[in-house]
Amino acid sequence: MESRHTYAVINVRNYLHNLRFFAEHCSPAKVMPVVKANAYGHGAVVLAKAAERSGFDFFAVAFLEEALELRKHGIRSEILVFNYIHPDMFHLAWREGITITLYSWEQLWQASKSPFKPKCHVKIDTGMRRLGVYPSEAVDFINAARKAGFEVEGAYTHLAVADSLDEDDVQFTIQQYQAFEELDLDVKIKHVCNSGASVSRVIPCFDYVRIGIASYGLQPGKTVTHPELKPVLSWKTIVSQVKNIKPGDTVSYGRTFKASTEMTIATIPVGYADGYWRQLSNKGYVLIHGEKCPIVGRVCMDQFMVDVTHLSNVKIGDEVVLIGQQGDKTITAEEIADMVGTINYEVTCRISERVPRVYEGLEL
Ligand SMILES: Cc1ncc(COP(=O)(O)O)c(C=O)c1O
Repeated sequence: MESRHTYAVINVRNYLHNLRFFAEHCSPAKVMPVVKANAYGHGAVVLAKAAERSGFDFFAVAFLEEALELRKHGIRSEILVFNYIHPDMFHLAWREGITITLYSWEQLWQASKSPFKPKCHVKIDTGMRRLGVYPSEAVDFINAARKAGFEVEGAYTHLAVADSLDEDDVQFTIQQYQAFEELDLDVKIKHVCNSGASVSRVIPCFDYVRIGIASYGLQPGKTVTHPELKPVLSWKTIVSQVKNIKPGDTVSYGRTFKASTEMTIATIPVGYADGYWRQLSNKGYVLIHGEKCPIVGRVCMDQFMVDVTHLSNVKIGDEVVLIGQQGDKTITAEEIADMVGTINYEVTCRISERVPRVYEGLEL
């Protein structure tokens, strides 16, 4: 048990529901769950294990260390690493059967010097201008990689605006798709769609769809949403103190909140060191007794205060929901993202290691 009863509760049932939804929605394409950044803060090992047991056989991560972590915990499925790996580490990818991404001539030239040649997918830059060779170079690049001794199993590209249904954005996504499709590359596996494109289906799904944000039940964009997605993460804690304050009293650092009447406030043992958002000072709210309770004063490193004047009999140990549902009210990652001025991706990724992840529905 955790001393301050603060947990990110991860609903594995909902995670598998979301993956199965995409397996059907994008069929016959298969789903490649994207579990980088510790599964967007949800816990990569546990979720990848649950997904593997349910038949998902190809995972994607950002960095080699994330792939090695999955292997260390017994995940035997295919794993694709999206980003740069120093060639001195190729032996680890090779030994562990991890698929790397080749994406530039300079990288290929360096990679070729390694005696270890892990299986690879080639990344084509059709418009993101991040990693990838240009479409005009793709065929020569794949040939060169094969000549250098790499088994090129797959090819992929990444979409820049698939989270939007604005006309210009959809046109751009279609252009990216066409630039990739017309290459007619000689590889076994092709994949293009992220969550946005897999929800909207404005382009075809190819062999795999790479699903990150939507697998966690979070909506890919303001206009690209699906009612079938079920949020996976809730963040819960408890009340650590309740006190009455007088008119004129100020709350927390900087004295940014001043009581104009008698109030009851509750202290919450969570702060920005847990990844809670300081920008929610005097702005956000939590749920207690099924009701919204506004944050008063600044969020501190380990604590913040909320107004519970409208509730009766709040006491130490009462449940507090920071993200998720209590009674008939819900606080979503999207709402927090809007208040903080970011995207839902960053909301869950930021919840720090100090917050234990506990898993519901693991028996499935
Ligand atoms: C190459 C690549 N594919 C797929 C994804 C998954 O994207 P999403 O979380 O929008 O589904 C990402 C995430 O950033 C990515 O970098």
